[in-house]
Amino acid sequence: MAQFDVLVIGDANPDLLLRGDVRPRFGQAEQLLTAADLVLGGSAAITASGCARLGLRTALFAAVGDDTFGALVRAQLAELGVTLLAADGRGAPTGLTVVLSEPDDRGMLTLPGTISALRPGDITDELLHRAGHVHVASLYLQPALAAGLAGVFRRARAAGITTSLDTNWDPSEKWESLAEILEHTDVFLPNAAELRAITRIDDPDEAAAALVAAGTTVVMKDGARGARAWWPGGGCAAPGRDVDVVDTTGAGDSFNAGFLAARLSGAEMTEAVAWAAAAGSLSTRAAGGTAAQAHRAELTP
Ligand SMILES: Nc1ncnc2c1ncn2[C@@H]1O[C@H](COP(=O)(O)OP(=O)(O)OP(=O)(O)O)[C@@H](O)[C@H]1O
Ligand SMILES: [Mg+2]
Repeated sequence: MAQFDVLVIGDANPDLLLRGDVRPRFGQAEQLLTAADLVLGGSAAITASGCARLGLRTALFAAVGDDTFGALVRAQLAELGVTLLAADGRGAPTGLTVVLSEPDDRGMLTLPGTISALRPGDITDELLHRAGHVHVASLYLQPALAAGLAGVFRRARAAGITTSLDTNWDPSEKWESLAEILEHTDVFLPNAAELRAITRIDDPDEAAAALVAAGTTVVMKDGARGARAWWPGGGCAAPGRDVDVVDTTGAGDSFNAGFLAARLSGAEMTEAVAWAAAAGSLSTRAAGGTAAQAHRAELTP
């Protein structure tokens, strides 16, 4: 039996979460905030935290610098029960995202730092074999990793390790083709806008059908509407939960954690998508990605 249920690969950095009058006005204007929280961020780190909260033995492979932001990341991961397997940061400083958060939308300013340090060669067979499942997050922030991820996923699957991918948004908006990677991806977890951009197909049913035809299961997040999923021979939808939304940072990552926890515990797809949508919704109850992540008892009826 592998040491970890899931190995999450990708970004880990603090999020500085600002609420209040957050739409910047220049000309040396000073604006007042109502809240500021410095919390664990990074899609991979938040997904890993959600997996650990839901009882999975969870490792995170990420590059974290030897600096103040890095120390914060290490301390938070340890507190959340995630084992950090440290990747070579290649001398970069730990990244940071400043989140300008409004109830229904947000803008983000990101210093990539160590986020783009990972290389495909860092993901050795020895590392992969420590887990039963490998999940990669924030692919478009990691072009060097992306260039060799198809080979990494191929090696994983050849060893019987399942694979999942959440690219998140592409800040360059070039949306380079994922065809080669998706060929070796068991589950692809985009939001609606990302599915449209990546496939260049507007209709989600058509977009998903194109990917399912190539053998990938698609689980699409759709904000307050919940989620939809398509797989060879089936499909389903699940509503989000009605919650008092404080902050949606990391909802998609918590969604991924809910899905993976269910599937890796043997749940059917429909149940896993319901867990995912509930986990996404519940995570919005507090500021930041990890503070309000769901416990297992909250996801089961
Ligand atoms: N306003 C909301 N009310 C209730 N549930 C929500 C809300 N926003 C998100 N969720 C839940 O969280 C899930 C994921 O959210 P969303 O669709 O925003 O993902 P995302 O765009 O990938 O987010 P992220 O920015 O974290 O990557 C949704 O499928 C839904 O279940
Ligand atoms: Mg997302």
